[in-house]
Amino acid sequence: MLSIYIYIIGHPIDYMAQKKEGTFSILGIAGSLRRESFNRALLRAASEVVPRGVTLDVFSLKGIPLFNQDLEELRMPVRVKDFKDKIEGADAVLIATPEYTSSFPGVLKNALDWASRPHGHNSFEGKTVAVVSASTGALGGSRAQYHLRQVLLDLDARLVTRPGVFLSYAHRKFNANGELTDDIARSLLKELLHNVIATAISSRGGRQEIAPGETASAMMTS
Ligand SMILES: Cc1cc2nc3c(=O)[nH]c(=O)nc-3n(C[C@H](O)[C@H](O)[C@H](O)COP(=O)(O)O)c2cc1C
Repeated sequence: MLSIYIYIIGHPIDYMAQKKEGTFSILGIAGSLRRESFNRALLRAASEVVPRGVTLDVFSLKGIPLFNQDLEELRMPVRVKDFKDKIEGADAVLIATPEYTSSFPGVLKNALDWASRPHGHNSFEGKTVAVVSASTGALGGSRAQYHLRQVLLDLDARLVTRPGVFLSYAHRKFNANGELTDDIARSLLKELLHNVIATAISSRGGRQEIAPGETASAMMTS
């Protein structure tokens, strides 16, 4: 049984020491295939603010074929197998989704359908997952995020929803190198990742102490 104290604010956390068997791994998934995707850039920014001893590697949905139930039992595509293995092997998952036509993109829904199959082999079951979104619109992808949360709940994922990270007007929040220039967004990402890690560790039987009042939701509107 793990016995772990996590101090979220004001105390350094040594996850390497906490998770004795190695680093704590987060799998990043962007719901966009676009080369200059703001959502992939948001995952890059997240990978820069993870605590020591934590890795955040991004899996590209490029190459995931359209779901076909004929394939799921006999010839699960290699890329899909790889995707499912990566989700199952990660300690937690962070999904960055764009908003397309008031919801999350079909590319991402297709990948989630694959991940949920075959029946009885849902890769998201019990997995700690958080969602962030970046959109060029004023609502920051909130409608996409809420739809996605609903699907993930149905997949029995353990959702971490505080603080909310809804990056609106994303085209104004990254520089020419694709680096996040919004300090508030960066600090919200950092806090969300702390909460994700704390949730994943506590779900494995560790203990956690989180400073009260540090998990308020925030909407990016400026
Ligand atoms: C097909 C399509 C539909 C879109 N619908 C919305 C929408 O409903 N709400 C919104 O805020 N942005 C919408 N957008 C704009 C996206 O937020 C914007 O293209 C964003 O940059 C996509 O994410 P990415 O940069 O990660 O590819 C839409 C874009 C596309 C291509």
